This record gives sequence, C-alpha cells and structure tokens, in this order.
Amino acid sequence: MTTTPQYVTEGNADALAERARRHLWMHFTRHSVYEGGGHVPIITRGEGPYIFDDQGRRYFDGLAGLFVVQVGHGRAELAEAMARQAQELEFFPLWSYAHPKAIELAERLASYAPGDLNRVFFTTGGGEAVESAWKLAKQYFKLTGKPTKHKVISRSVAYHGTPQGALSITGIPPAKIPFEPLVPGGVKVPNTNFYRAPEEYRYDEKAFGLWAADRIAEAIEFEGADSVAAVFLEPVQNSGGCFPPPPGYLERVREICDAYDVLFVADETITAFGRIGDMFAINRFGVTPDIITCAKGMTSGYAPLGAMIASERLFEPFKHGTNAFLHGYTWGGHPVAAAVAMANLDIFEREGINDHVKENEGAFRRTLEKLLDLPIVGDVRGAGFFYGIELVKDTETRETFNEEESERLLRGFLSKALFDNGLYCRADDRGDPVIQLAPPLIIDQSHFNEVEQILRQVLTEASNIL
Ligand SMILES: Cc1ncc(COP(=O)(O)O)c(C=O)c1O
Repeated sequence: MTTTPQYVTEGNADALAERARRHLWMHFTRHSVYEGGGHVPIITRGEGPYIFDDQGRRYFDGLAGLFVVQVGHGRAELAEAMARQAQELEFFPLWSYAHPKAIELAERLASYAPGDLNRVFFTTGGGEAVESAWKLAKQYFKLTGKPTKHKVISRSVAYHGTPQGALSITGIPPAKIPFEPLVPGGVKVPNTNFYRAPEEYRYDEKAFGLWAADRIAEAIEFEGADSVAAVFLEPVQNSGGCFPPPPGYLERVREICDAYDVLFVADETITAFGRIGDMFAINRFGVTPDIITCAKGMTSGYAPLGAMIASERLFEPFKHGTNAFLHGYTWGGHPVAAAVAMANLDIFEREGINDHVKENEGAFRRTLEKLLDLPIVGDVRGAGFFYGIELVKDTETRETFNEEESERLLRGFLSKALFDNGLYCRADDRGDPVIQLAPPLIIDQSHFNEVEQILRQVLTEASNIL
C-alpha cells in the first residue's frame, strides 16, 4: 500500500527523495536524519570512477560503490553481456543442474585460486559465502569423524556479513548485540592493527605479526582443538581501517591451522579481484588457505554474485554415497550474474587491471601519505588500491577520539562534508575513526591528486572544528 501524497510527482528530484523517505528502508541507516527533513542522497548514474546524483552533481567514487565496482561505472559491454545472457537463458538454478556460464566461471575461478582450491559453490554475496564456508566446515568434520569441531575463530573489529552465522564471526559488538543470541561458537582474537600494536611490538612488525598469529593458537588451545573448525580472516582486514598482514603472519596462521587440523578460510569478499593487485590477495602473500570466500568485485557490481571456493580435500567426502552439502540459494550462480562476471574478468585480463594496481599502488600511497602533515591524521595504511586513514586527536600520543567527539567528527561533519566536496567514501568508527578508500581500479595519478586535495581541505576544516 502506498501512502505517497498527491503533491509528490514523478521526475521531480525532491519528490523522489520524499518518496524514498516514505518507503525505502536503507541499510545500516539512521533514518532519524531523514525523518528530521534531511535530503536522501540519490545516485542516478555512473561513468568510470565518477557517480552523479539526482541534482546533476558529480562525485569521485572513492569506495567503488561498496568495494565493488573494480572496472568502473557505465561499461556498456558489461550491460550487453547481461542482455545477451538474459535472452538465451535468464535463469536456472544450480540445484542438481548446471548451466554453461556457471561452469565456465567455476573453472575460471579455480584457475585463479591457489593450490587445489578447485570446487566453486556460488552464492549471491559475501555474507552468504561466509555462511556457506562455516556450514561446509561443520559438515566436513561431521563426515570425517570429528563431529565436535564447530567453532570459528576470527579477529576483533572484522566484518564478515549479516546472516546470523556470519554475524557470529563478525567482531563488531554493536553490530551483533541487537540480534543476540547468535550462532554459538564465535571466538575472537586480536587483529593486525600495527599502529595500535602493544607497546613492546610497536617497532617490530614481524614480531607483532607472530604475536598476533600465536593468539590464534592460544585460542584453539583454550577452546580445545576438538571443538574448533575454522579460522576466518581477511588477508587485509577492512573494518578498523585496512590492516595488512605483517610479514610472516599468514604463514604462521597456516602452520597453526595445520597443527590443530583447523580450516583456514580467507574471506576475500573485498580483497579479491584486483583490490590488492591480484585475482586473490592471498596469492600475493603466497599462502594457500582451505577455502576462499569472495563476491563484490567478481562482477564489478553489474550483478550480485558471491562464491565459496573449497579445496579438493573438503569436497572429497561429498563424492561418496548419499552425502550432499545440504545447502543452497535460489539465486546462487545466476546465469546473468555469471555471464557478467566472465565479461568483467575479460576486461581485467585485456586491460591488465591487476598490473595497473601493482604498478600504481606506490604512487597512490605516497599521494595519500602527504596527508600525514595534518594534525588530525595519525596513520595511512593499506595495500593495492585499498587504504585506511586513521584520524587521531594527537599524532604524538596517538590518542583517539572519545565516543562523543567521534560522533561529532564523523557523523556530524566528515561524512557530509566529504560528499559535499565531491568525494564519496566512508568515514567509519567501527574501530578507531578512519576514512576508508577503495576506488575503482582504473584510476591514475590525476585521481589520486583529486582525492588527496578533497581530503586535505575537509580534514583541515575538521581539525579546526574540534
Ligand atoms: C570481509 C567481508 N565479508 C563479508 C561481507 C558481506 O558481504 P555481503 O554484504 O555481500 O553479504 C563483507 C561486506 O562488506 C565483507 O567486507
């Protein structure tokens, strides 16, 4: 039923915002802002690394939508690939049947994945892929004589999605508390935020990495190895503001998982498909997990698609007798999404997107590091085209903002000021306050400069209002 009043007419930009206010329930959104009369930002189209709103204003897309639009907006050839597929076979499920594009894409993903990660289970997004990986870990151990292995270890402040299993794995208490009790068995260990490393490791990244990895072994010992099924982590953690793995960290995690027969799941929902300059970031770090979960950049956002890619070892018990992975999604591996993923990956190869990221990541970092001269910028960190800029009250002591200051700074000022100045990105305080940047992977030095200049102007104003 619509409650839209008569005065709201089609084609009137303000009227569209009004209709959004009345009917559109936005995700992770404080609707009080709009109930109070705030204008709902409406994005109407995109072109390359830019997006445009309903008022005709242009913004640099500093977050690739939501860590998604790797090859940029408005690629006609991707729209055409989708149209072709829809004409040929618009839908068929993967429930006991296959279709050509899912087969081709599964084979292609397996060819990019490390080791013998050859078995591709499609979902529609990252949270479903994480959920699928946890369920696979549980059923695998039940089928192989270790039925009590069910718990998952993951890292503090990490985000792994919103289904109730994935939310148990997520390490952000405020995102979980409203929905408790969640799936039991989620255990948390420290992340690899070197900027906030314990004092004794602050000057030795390798030692810090080994310390952090060993907290996983400690948690497994504490919980009992016979109860732990998997460790989930992102090769570069997003939430909290980009924590790359310290040297030796991922290798040590692999050793620990092997020692305790615990599965290593690399959640590459964000880091795959070029974000760190490789199809899978884990390849760049030279470690082979047991499962990769991925989504977002696989289609550059032209259609929703995710995947769980598992090793031959994990598939093995499902080859026999009446065994089946009792899990699935109607839309998982949708033909139109699989077709556009193939076309997207063709662009990656034709345009050398991964090499472009590797060749330009240093320049992007150096441009962002110029911001370290501002009194509010404590740290610039990340890898590939994926950066977090941590904001602090005092760069000497690294003192962070209290809740009220963070609220005033991020929600009260920064998010809006950045957008008003033409930069769409995210000011996030799920850990310490950070600005997250993950632009489309097609950008160059002129865009790095554009981002730096907008950030410089807005962060300078922010330090003045504090
Ligand atoms: C690391 C990670 N895992 C899982 C998810 C959930 O993905 P989705 O929103 O597609 O369910 C996200 C989303 O940002 C993510 O960053």
